[in-house]
Amino acid sequence: MRRMVRETRMTADGLILPAFVVPGTGIKEEIRSMPGFYRHSVDRLVEEAKEARDLGVPAMILFGIPAEKDPQGSGAWIEDGIVQQAFRALKEKVEGLVLMADVCMCEYTSHGHCGELVDGDVDNDRSLELLKRTAVSQARAGAGLVAPSDMMDGRVGAIRGALDQAGLQNVPIMSYAAKYASAFYGPFRDAAESTPSMGDRRGYQMDPPNAREAMREVAQDIAEGADILMVKPAMPYLDIICRIREAHDVPVAAYHVSGEYAMLKAAAANGWLDEKRCVLEALTSIHRAGADMILTYFAKDVARWLQSQS
Ligand code: PBG
Repeated sequence: MRRMVRETRMTADGLILPAFVVPGTGIKEEIRSMPGFYRHSVDRLVEEAKEARDLGVPAMILFGIPAEKDPQGSGAWIEDGIVQQAFRALKEKVEGLVLMADVCMCEYTSHGHCGELVDGDVDNDRSLELLKRTAVSQARAGAGLVAPSDMMDGRVGAIRGALDQAGLQNVPIMSYAAKYASAFYGPFRDAAESTPSMGDRRGYQMDPPNAREAMREVAQDIAEGADILMVKPAMPYLDIICRIREAHDVPVAAYHVSGEYAMLKAAAANGWLDEKRCVLEALTSIHRAGADMILTYFAKDVARWLQSQS
């Protein structure tokens, strides 16, 4: 009976698996604060992608970790950048997987900020130029969707214009529309070596106590041409997901971030929580709140668990 009246069904259909790609070959190294999650070189990433696809995960989002970083983050857009190499390899070798690109400068800049610094502050409009270049280069390399996570004002419109001009009209934008300046990103910054060397991201990411402001950010992104809206992190912001779902008809995504993953992993490793039940409950609650898609480091596990249930 419970099965019949269930309001939310967890399936693999909305899962997006994040992946960190590093230079080199044969590399699969575990991330210290994300047990069970790895950084891959391009060759090993191809295997990871095939495995995810075979489990029924429909999409992957790539983060590049370049060998060298500079103040402008040129590694983000150069022709043979690490993420560009990864997209080309995946596009050629793995069929049937939606390839998404995280568009941001922070993994590529020597100072770790999400844009270009002028007198010690991130300059919004100069950063837009770098983001446009990055999105176009990722899409040319094979990304089927771009996801700007930098939180500069006006970036969705700027990227849409740049893609269209480059003949990439068919590449949609998933905007990190409501991205909070969250402490839950800690492990990701370990993984991507992207902790700002000075200051923090509160000048461009949102203040956690604010919900009405998220609605304004989201409305702006829709007006600028966003195809999918994302909320990040997920569980501490279920109210935001719910409000956006009620106010807008576009697809909504939520990012179950590195800190949310690390908490569950740490508690499970201590025998304090049942990993599988807690992960499924957490992700089901994110769907129930209104997210159609979930970016999660548990994507492969969930797909596997769901397979063995049916
Ligand atoms: C920025 C970016 C971040 C995450 C995704 N894109 C980090 C940040 O803003 O510091 C965090 C994801 C996570 O914590 O899992 N490019």
